[in-house]
Amino acid sequence: MSLTATALTRRNVHQVSAIERTANAPWWAQEVETFLLVDAPKQILSRTGSGLLVHEGDVLVAVAAHRPHHKWTAELLQAFLVLPALRNKGLAALALLCALAHVHVAAKTEHVMWLVHQENTAMLRVSLSVADPATPADADGFVTFAKP
Ligand SMILES: CC(C)(COP(=O)(O)OP(=O)(O)OC[C@H]1O[C@@H](n2cnc3c(N)ncnc32)[C@H](O)[C@@H]1OP(=O)(O)O)[C@@H](O)C(=O)NCCC(=O)NCCS
Repeated sequence: MSLTATALTRRNVHQVSAIERTANAPWWAQEVETFLLVDAPKQILSRTGSGLLVHEGDVLVAVAAHRPHHKWTAELLQAFLVLPALRNKGLAALALLCALAHVHVAAKTEHVMWLVHQENTAMLRVSLSVADPATPADADGFVTFAKP
C-alpha cells in the first residue's frame, strides 16, 4: 500500500466538507469531526490554518489539521480522522505516519505532538504503535504523544 499526503488548500478543501460524520460518536470524536469538517475548511479558505489529505491513489483515506504548538517548540496535530467507510481496516497507523511525515516537512519542525482522549481506544492503539506517550492523561483525560 502506498499512501501520499498533500497539503489542504482552497482547491481541494471541498473533499473534507463532503466527509460524513460518525453516527453516535462520543463527545471527543464529535469535537474532532466538528473541527475537521467545519472549522478547518473555514481556516483553509481564510488562509489561517494548515491541514492535509492522505490518499491511496485517488481514494481519500484520512484528513488532519495542524498548527504551531502554543507552548512547546513543536507542531500540534490538532485533529486526525480516517474516513468512516475505511475504518477498522488497519489503515490508521500508516495514515497517521504519512500525516506526521507531511507535518514535519510542511511545518519545518523536529517534533509533532497530538492529544488522544484516554477513552479513544482505537486512536490510543494507533498512537502507541507509532510513538511513546509524552505525558500521562491530563485532568480532561487527554494523553499527549510526540514524534520526532
Ligand atoms: C481513531 C481512528 C483514526 C482509527 O482508525 P481505524 O481505521 O478505525 O483504525 P484501524 O482499523 O487501523 O485500527 C487501529 C487499532 O484500533 C483498534 N480499533 C479500531 N476501532 C476500534 C474501536 N471502535 N474500539 C476499540 N478498538 C478499535 C483496532 O483493532 C486496531 O488495533 P490493533 O492495531 O491493536 O490491531 C478512527 O476511528 C477515527 O477517525 N475516529 C474518529 C476521529 C478520532 O477519534 N480521531 C482521533 C482523534 S485524536
